[in-house]
Amino acid sequence: MVQIGNLQFNGTPLFLAPMEDVSDSAFRLICKEFGADVVISEFASSEALIRDVKQTQEKLKFDDKERPLGIQIFGNQAASMCEAARIAADYHPDFIDINWGCPVKKVTGKGAGAGMLQNIPLLVDITKQVVDAVKIPVTVKTRLGWDETNKPIVHLVEQLQDIGVQAVSIHGRSRSMMYKGEADFTLIGKIKENPRISIPVIGNGDIVNADKAMYVKQHYRVDGIMIGRGAIGNPWIFNASKSLLDKNKITPPPTVQERLAVCKKHFELSIQNKGEHYGMLTMRKHYKSYFRELINFKEIRIKLLTSNSLDEIRAIFQEIEGKYITQT
Ligand SMILES: Cc1cc2nc3c(=O)[nH]c(=O)nc-3n(C[C@H](O)[C@H](O)[C@H](O)COP(=O)(O)O)c2cc1C
Repeated sequence: MVQIGNLQFNGTPLFLAPMEDVSDSAFRLICKEFGADVVISEFASSEALIRDVKQTQEKLKFDDKERPLGIQIFGNQAASMCEAARIAADYHPDFIDINWGCPVKKVTGKGAGAGMLQNIPLLVDITKQVVDAVKIPVTVKTRLGWDETNKPIVHLVEQLQDIGVQAVSIHGRSRSMMYKGEADFTLIGKIKENPRISIPVIGNGDIVNADKAMYVKQHYRVDGIMIGRGAIGNPWIFNASKSLLDKNKITPPPTVQERLAVCKKHFELSIQNKGEHYGMLTMRKHYKSYFRELINFKEIRIKLLTSNSLDEIRAIFQEIEGKYITQT
């Protein structure tokens, strides 16, 4: 049994990773439908939240069907992180997740995200203050460390557990790796070997299919699996992973018809939530993956990526149906 606060999971819970501009409410609902056990919001800047920036407040909204859900915040000041956590808690998520892993210079340069991995005492201090500021569980998402010579993750998780953090998800890269190279789960496995650690440890990084989810579970004994890019245009990865992990059963990949149907549903949800303009822009991040297996698709893909009208996009979906489904 894996437990985060009052949340309990049988088997290995599967998490949809927080992804800016990708894991919004529409995509979270789609992933939920296909077996994600837990979803986490896109990161919200604590400074923007305390200044009532509307665009950031929008990121905190979710549908009850998405539960269990965590709202993720980032920042570098204890006072604003605590205030942001309280603001987020007012939206009644199941937990607050602190981002100590974002590698982007704009964020790390100010000491937020993975930037704080260069100052572990401050990271632990701010995290403790956030834990004490809210009544709901607080979790942390982070990386192995700052760079090749500085990977404090094993001891850091002990410290985080000691101050009341209820779960950690760890991306198996250092900050300096950004998204390059391969995620390395060795240190994550070491955390799981540490008898002091009782909080769930969620493994993340390059889990792009059910086989990899199984490999990470079996070799590193993680309590949960977090999937980011592997779920883009491929929410089926959750059910496929669950079926392999829990029943040792291989799931057939989705048909083109299923891919199109889910893409259309995702599109309509996106428009409903964000309006025409932003809904259409957001969907551009997903088309390539939804239709990745289609041959001679380039021309249609370009149309999908350049069209600015709902009717045009819906007509392109029909074209895909005519070209790749009706005739097969
Ligand atoms: C487009 C994109 C946006 C991301 N935004 C966030 C974010 O807001 N918060 C966060 O903690 N991580 C963010 N990440 C990192 C992912 O959550 C995840 O840790 C990383 O992509 C590795 O997992 P993966 O190989 O399964 O994608 C983002 C990653 C991508 C690709």
